[in-house]
This record gives sequence, structure tokens and C-alpha cells, in this order.
Amino acid sequence: MKKRIVIFEAEGGSDKWLDGHRKDTMPIVKSLKSKGWDAEVLFFRDEWHETIYGYVKDSFDAYISRINPGNLPNGEKIYFDTLRKLSDYGLTGMPHPDAMLNFGAKDALVKLASTDLVPDDTHAYYDIPHFKKTFPISLSYGERVLKQNRGSTGEGIWRIQIADEHTFQPGDTLPLNTKLKCTEAVDNHVEYHTLEAFMTFCEKYIVGDNGMLVDMRFMPRIKEGEIRILLVGDIPIFVVHKKPAEGGDAFSATLFSGAKYTYDDPEKWSDLVSLFLKSLPVISEKLGGFDIPLIWTADFMLDWDENKQDKYVLGEINCSCVGFTSHLDQGIQEKVADEVVKRVESRFA
Ligand SMILES: Nc1ncnc2c1ncn2[C@@H]1O[C@H](COP(=O)(O)OP(=O)(O)O)[C@@H](O)[C@H]1O
Ligand SMILES: [Mg+2]
Repeated sequence: MKKRIVIFEAEGGSDKWLDGHRKDTMPIVKSLKSKGWDAEVLFFRDEWHETIYGYVKDSFDAYISRINPGNLPNGEKIYFDTLRKLSDYGLTGMPHPDAMLNFGAKDALVKLASTDLVPDDTHAYYDIPHFKKTFPISLSYGERVLKQNRGSTGEGIWRIQIADEHTFQPGDTLPLNTKLKCTEAVDNHVEYHTLEAFMTFCEKYIVGDNGMLVDMRFMPRIKEGEIRILLVGDIPIFVVHKKPAEGGDAFSATLFSGAKYTYDDPEKWSDLVSLFLKSLPVISEKLGGFDIPLIWTADFMLDWDENKQDKYVLGEINCSCVGFTSHLDQGIQEKVADEVVKRVESRFA
């Protein structure tokens, strides 16, 4: 064991602070050092991939990935390949790139649809013909949300309502000229389209690397807010309650759209938190058997079960670039360092 950790960051971007790093990166480095470990931060550039691999493989026990793939100018391909090679060589990945892909992709919901965390009528479309054939039937069952896989700002996340004078029976195939009311989560703006025109517009979400559309039931209780748990490994750190702007068609919990955020202690949401912790083994099994991410979030919406009791529905997981800059004074960096040490030491135990 070398007791050395490398942290990868991307150069530049609005998430960086005065020292060029994410504001919560050097605090993690410091915490590791205070525990007698060493840590170094490296910037990843595609053209450096061989040099980075050569330098890192024999000098470090583990890597922490702190890059939003959207911040790499040429996408994540070479970066992820490099991380994969480092993991194959024996370094602990926090997280492994395939864990990032599996946990963070929107179709994680579909993989979890057989659990109590996600409604079982949640589907994914990976090709255009399947989308065009199935979505007109899916919509006959009620209001839906279509989610693109890329981005995390509510862009390409559409609430779809039928705005047609005709009514339909569940199981019908809606005609292509059915009128739809479409609200986008990025800013809650509304557009009216025919089903055919809207599905054609959505083709762009399906094409390209990791393209897909997830089709999920609309959860009306989103107006009571989205509930985000932030975790370090399996330790819940805080809960953010994000309430969409009041009124109209607003359903978005993003800050930009006007949602209000409140930070709570995990104890205030103990039902949800303990449900989630209990589900971790099945979540990691269904998402490919990887270790759970190091710093990550899970977002939930409220629903009712058959007995009219509160029930929580998973909306998405984020794990590729989660930070805790709002809580630096609370020593979360210590918990991160402890978790890192624990994971590496367990490999050598
Ligand atoms: N099934 C749903 N029912 C109601 N609202 C939803 C649903 N899925 C997403 N939303 C709303 O849309 C917002 C953006 O969707 P999300 O899946 O979090 O994508 P993003 O990656 O863009 O954050 C959420 O914060 C939530 O307010
Ligand atoms: Mg979100």
C-alpha cells in the first residue's frame, strides 16, 4: 500500500475556485494528509492520457474522479478509458467509470423498476422506431415525463400532457395528430405540439453516444418538492428539499427555474434515509455490481401507496461530479478522507 491518492479534475469551468480547483478538492487533500496519507490533484487532458497513465499506475493506490464529463472538451471517452485501465491495473476507482455510467444514467431508473423505488411502468427508448411505436401507447395511461440522458439542468426533461378534445382509453395507440402540452423542466416553459411533431423533435435525444429517452409516470406530488440525499459512501450527510416555483405548470426542482432549496439534517427525513440505506445492496447489484460512489446524491419524489401512505419514488442519481462546497465548515472532507482510507485499506486487509 502506497497510501497515495490521485484526484482528477478538469481545467477551467464555472465550478472552479481561486486556486483553479473545485472549492472542496483541496480540503479533501488536506484531510487525507492529516491522516498520514498523500494526495495529488491532476488535470486530465486527452493528449496527456498516456503520460497520466504511466505516472499514476505505480504511484497511487486509488483515484477519485471529480470531473463532470460535460466539462471535457472532447467528451469522456479517453478519460473513461484511462480510468478503466487504471482500475484494471489494480487502482481502486472512486468511482469506476462504468459505475459512473450505470448509476448516473437516466436508465438506472429502468434497471430499478422491479424494486419499490421506481414505478414499474418506467421504460427507456434507445432507438427511434421503438420510441415512436411505444410512446403513443404509454401516453394513453396518463401524464408522462420524458427524460433525456445528457445534462443535469432540466434541459430535455419534458412533462407531457394530452391537450386534445378527444379522450382516450388506457392501452389505445394515440393518433399522431393528438395535441400535446409539453413543459420543459429547465425553465417550466410550455409548448404545444402534435404527438408526431414532438416525437420527431425528440429524436435528437436518442441519437449519439449514450443517447436515450426514459419514459416515466408524472408524479403530481413533485409540487411538494424533490428530496435529495447527499451521501459519502453509505453515510448520509444532508438532505436538500427543493420546492418548485409556485403555480402554473411549474414542476422543476432546478434552482434556475425558481425552485427554493432548504438544507435539512438526514434525521428529519429518517424514513426515506433508512429506506434508501436498506436498498443500497440491491441498487448496486442492479446497477452492475460496482461499489457505491464516493460522493453522490439520490433524488426522490413523494407518492402515495395503496393505503394512502407516503411513498418515495427515485427520480435520478448523480455521481460524477457531486460537491459539498455549501457545507465545507461541517467537516465533510474528513468523512470523505475516512471513506477513501477505508476502501483502500480493505483491499490490503
Ligand atoms: N416523474 C417525474 N414526475 C414529476 N416531476 C419530475 C419527474 N421526473 C423529473 N421531474 C422534475 O424534473 C426535474 C428534472 O428532472 P431530472 O430527472 O432531475 O433531470 P436533470 O438531470 O435534468 O436534473 C426534476 O428536478 C423534477 O422537478
Ligand atoms: Mg435532477
